Amino acid sequence: MDFTDFDHDERMIARERLPEDRDEKGLRPLTWEDYSGQKHVTDNLKIFIEAAMRRGEALDHCLLYGPPGLGKTTLAGIIANELGVNLRITTGPAIEKAGDLAALLTSLQEREVLFIDEIHRLNRSVEEVLYPAMEDFALDIMIGKGPAARSIRLDLPRFTLIGATTRAGMLSAPLRDRFGMVHRLELYKPEELKSILKRDADILQIGIDEEGLDCLARRSRGTPRIAIRLLKRLRDFAEVRGEGMIDKKIAEFGLDQLSIDEMGLDLTDRRILETIADKFLGGPVGLETLAACTGEDAGTIEDVYEPFLMQCGFIAKTPRGRVLAAAGWKHLGRECPKDLDRKLSGLGVSSKEISDGQISIDEMMKDKENGEKA
Ligand SMILES: Nc1ncnc2c1ncn2[C@@H]1O[C@H](COP(=O)(O)OP(=O)(O)OP(=O)(O)O)[C@@H](O)[C@H]1O
Ligand SMILES: [Mg+2]
Repeated sequence: MDFTDFDHDERMIARERLPEDRDEKGLRPLTWEDYSGQKHVTDNLKIFIEAAMRRGEALDHCLLYGPPGLGKTTLAGIIANELGVNLRITTGPAIEKAGDLAALLTSLQEREVLFIDEIHRLNRSVEEVLYPAMEDFALDIMIGKGPAARSIRLDLPRFTLIGATTRAGMLSAPLRDRFGMVHRLELYKPEELKSILKRDADILQIGIDEEGLDCLARRSRGTPRIAIRLLKRLRDFAEVRGEGMIDKKIAEFGLDQLSIDEMGLDLTDRRILETIADKFLGGPVGLETLAACTGEDAGTIEDVYEPFLMQCGFIAKTPRGRVLAAAGWKHLGRECPKDLDRKLSGLGVSSKEISDGQISIDEMMKDKENGEKA
């Protein structure tokens, strides 16, 4: 096999689900034991679930948000499993009419979990049915037309709605306010990814050693879905190039072949950083301009590339656009401009905030809520 022809597809590290992730379902953990990371979310959830169980009540409605592939669907499954109830799965765009949702809601059993993926894509008339359903466990139905029309109220079973979205900012405020809990999933630390990968390698019967795991975990952009996909891809390298075992050498070789660097950045990530450095002298540059110059879609940059680049502290988002931060210059192997700190403080960001990374992600979500695009 000629490795120079190896599938160089940049989508290798796409966070969205791809056809090759179809066996994902078999890997999804069903219990807390197998779900690694997101401690800030799981600690609270465990308590709320236990309390709901003790009282024999339905769990409060729960909104999960964060970039694709971090385990929102997985978490919904575990919650239902722990509650000992059924999980009914649907997506925002699949519920076209108010009547579709009404049919779904009336078919629920007491305490069941209804999972609506991509909940930001529900249309308004459907959303309005959801408000009284979430708040009062009731459906308001209009009977008749014109002056004779009257509304009757139907009682619904007490259920739990779990909404998932990659774009919390696109959710309408009244809908967001009706969730008793809102949890943001974070990118995973390498150690957490390692334990996920260990478990999945066992299930898929892929041989990988400690150092191989380490290398892979550090290059998977904090995202289990990417880690699992790369694990399967590295198996091919191990079988053809090695003895079937993914060790450090195979992992590094394979990931280099796939143009994934030691931080997990791919060609598009690097093109984004280079564009800000070369064409805009480090920025600030607006999202649309950046999109036009890199040939990427603005939404994709915002949802897929930017969160990780911010998490690494490579770029910062300011009111006037994206700026390349010190770590970003370093990663490109360039000298950081001397006036960078002054430039950043002039734009209202401190280097400390950038190196904390996570703050930028909070900022990003806030910006989305305000519906503005810097
Ligand atoms: N905390 C975790 N522990 C173990 N495996 C995980 C964890 N989170 C995610 N995974 C694995 O990653 C894969 C992707 O997760 P999942 O489908 O739940 O992501 P998602 O957030 O729902 O993505 P999307 O936004 O695209 O719907 C799953 O197959 C699961 O095996
Ligand atoms: Mg999902």
